Amino acid sequence: MGEVVRRIGLSLGADLCWPLCFEHIVRKLDLRVPVGGDTLRFEVERVTIEPFDLQQPCRYDVVVDRLTHWYHTSREWIKKSILMNDLYVFNNPWSVQSNEKHSTYCAMMQLGMPIPGTWMIPPKSYEPNPDLKPTLARYAKLFDVSKIGDQLGWPLFMKPYDGGGWRAVTKVDHAEAAWKAYEESGKAVMHVQAAVKDYDRFVRCIGFGPQTHCVLYEPSAPLHDRYTMKPEAEFLSGADREHLRKVTLTINSFFGWEFNSCESLHKGGVWHPIDFANPCPDSQVTSLHLHFPWLVKAYVRWTLFCAAYKRKMRKNLDWAPFYEVAARDLSYEGKLDAYAAIADERFETARFDEFCAKNLSHLDEVAWEFFGTGEAKEAVRLKVAALFPPEEVERFTELFWSRIGEWRRRERA
Ligand SMILES: Nc1ncnc2c1ncn2[C@@H]1O[C@H](COP(=O)(O)OP(=O)(O)OP(=O)(O)O)[C@@H](O)[C@H]1O
Ligand SMILES: [Mg+2]
Repeated sequence: MGEVVRRIGLSLGADLCWPLCFEHIVRKLDLRVPVGGDTLRFEVERVTIEPFDLQQPCRYDVVVDRLTHWYHTSREWIKKSILMNDLYVFNNPWSVQSNEKHSTYCAMMQLGMPIPGTWMIPPKSYEPNPDLKPTLARYAKLFDVSKIGDQLGWPLFMKPYDGGGWRAVTKVDHAEAAWKAYEESGKAVMHVQAAVKDYDRFVRCIGFGPQTHCVLYEPSAPLHDRYTMKPEAEFLSGADREHLRKVTLTINSFFGWEFNSCESLHKGGVWHPIDFANPCPDSQVTSLHLHFPWLVKAYVRWTLFCAAYKRKMRKNLDWAPFYEVAARDLSYEGKLDAYAAIADERFETARFDEFCAKNLSHLDEVAWEFFGTGEAKEAVRLKVAALFPPEEVERFTELFWSRIGEWRRRERA
């Protein structure tokens, strides 16, 4: 019985803005949370990169991981700490490592989601390998990529099966363009996917634990305008909102991704998910601007919740309950309800809501105040300075800062 410190580690790469805001807000919250007779305090530290003994203890209760997808020393330190020290991490590093966009398409098709028709094709070229020639000579069948296009319907998208960050994504309108895109795809293993033509809305739904936030997305706009500022009520009905919440939480709980974003295109009354393997989603003020304070608050709530209750890490993914629902004789909406119920149980939605109501009732006020301070503006400026040419830093800092100001106005409206 006494004061107990819960330590939160931030495992970071190029991120600048959200960690600064997160650290300030957690400090300003100045929490004392009573749990099991103890009073919990919270400390935030940045995880350093250094040699480690596989048997050494881990000083953190929770690690927020932004490195696993590309920095493997940190990923393996995280895995060791989960396996040996009962560390809690989001996202599940084994799942991030092994579940590419391709697996997410397959699994969610099987769960009944209306994903556009998608094929995988063998790559155009290969790393040298002594077995390559006999393997291809014996087993690789010649194919005509334009025939796949005829079957799927034009236009289509050619994109890497493990895509992210819009790398090598090509819209293809006809056979000749399909061949060209394939010629240029090099060693990448590609998907060929039917386009959702003439959609009326493109929404990105960010999921963070049980929290979700929908943004109308404009893919043809410059990067800083892709997340639009349109208020949610102007592009989503309550039913659409709930539908996208369920889709996102289904995907995230299935893959052990507590933080992920799901892109869906709406056409003819149907939401088609097209890209939902983003388990280290964009967290930068330079793309999120107006939505950035929501994201920082979501980081704060879910991290503190996981740390306070020493939430148990789900080390294995358990897919069977989802497949059991998929096999039932239910409509898609009926299945989604059942998947979302599994998700709400896995994300402990009710307990999370209660934790926030009891302990974080001042978060809105603290964040609103903070996002009007010089420290917050400095966090924005630092990120802008890291990404923009020097002559644009002032202009874009002011632009993003004014959008955060707009968020503050809307919160008080
Ligand atoms: N089936 C599709 N129908 C319509 N548009 C599509 C389709 N697939 C991809 N696109 C367009 O191409 C863009 C990039 O595709 P996708 O999101 O799958 O790739 P990505 O590399 O994961 O991109 P990012 O990481 O930037 O979200 C989408 O934002 C969308 O505008
Ligand atoms: Mg995408």
